[in-house]
Amino acid sequence: MSHRKLVPGKLVVASHNKGKIREINELLRPFGFDVVSAGELDLPEPEETGLTFEANAALKAQAAAQASGLPALADDSGFCVQALNGDPGIYSARWAGPDKDFAMAMRTIEEKLQSLGATAPEQRRGSFVAVLCLAWPDGHQELFRGEVEGDVVWPPRGTQGFGYDPMFLPDGRDRTFGEMTSEEKHGWSKDTPALSHRARAFQLFADGCLEG
Ligand code: IMP
Repeated sequence: MSHRKLVPGKLVVASHNKGKIREINELLRPFGFDVVSAGELDLPEPEETGLTFEANAALKAQAAAQASGLPALADDSGFCVQALNGDPGIYSARWAGPDKDFAMAMRTIEEKLQSLGATAPEQRRGSFVAVLCLAWPDGHQELFRGEVEGDVVWPPRGTQGFGYDPMFLPDGRDRTFGEMTSEEKHGWSKDTPALSHRARAFQLFADGCLEG
């Protein structure tokens, strides 16, 4: 499939989430964009009314592209626990409440798993999903999805990363995302494939829309 290319220049990162902005900036760094965040431009944060990651990513990217007159990149992402029918999923940020209390959100997941009696490893599977949307001011958009599967661990481990990172152990690793440096979490270098959901989506975006 052919994608519209993004020419180097100013690019809005359509997010107000510090952890995400940091990771997206790290992933964009080799490509030489002049990156500015939606917060720095004082752009309003649109309400996430979509029912899918794709719909919410598009809504955020389109709102930022329209308001700024610049191409905008948005990420909608979340933690999906199989035994909870994919919850918290698109509601991952909301489960942490207005105080963004992710210790509480992780505890909520664990309590729900305990109340289902989900103690066996095969009942404690989860994945992170990230959908990136790149939108141009003329309304054109491109979408890319990345996912990573693993185990839901308790108690949470590690203080790096953000959100639900400390309770997610990606398959084939012995450290949670919370115990990894961001380089290890992205896992993306010239010789290794991407590891995190965001880096996997980014790799598709870079292959599709970026030169070099
Ligand atoms: P939204 O995409 O802004 O609606 O929020 C996504 C939410 O999912 C974040 O606030 C985090 O709680 C969670 N999330 C997304 N990506 C990650 C990640 O890489 N690590 C940990 N939590 C994440």
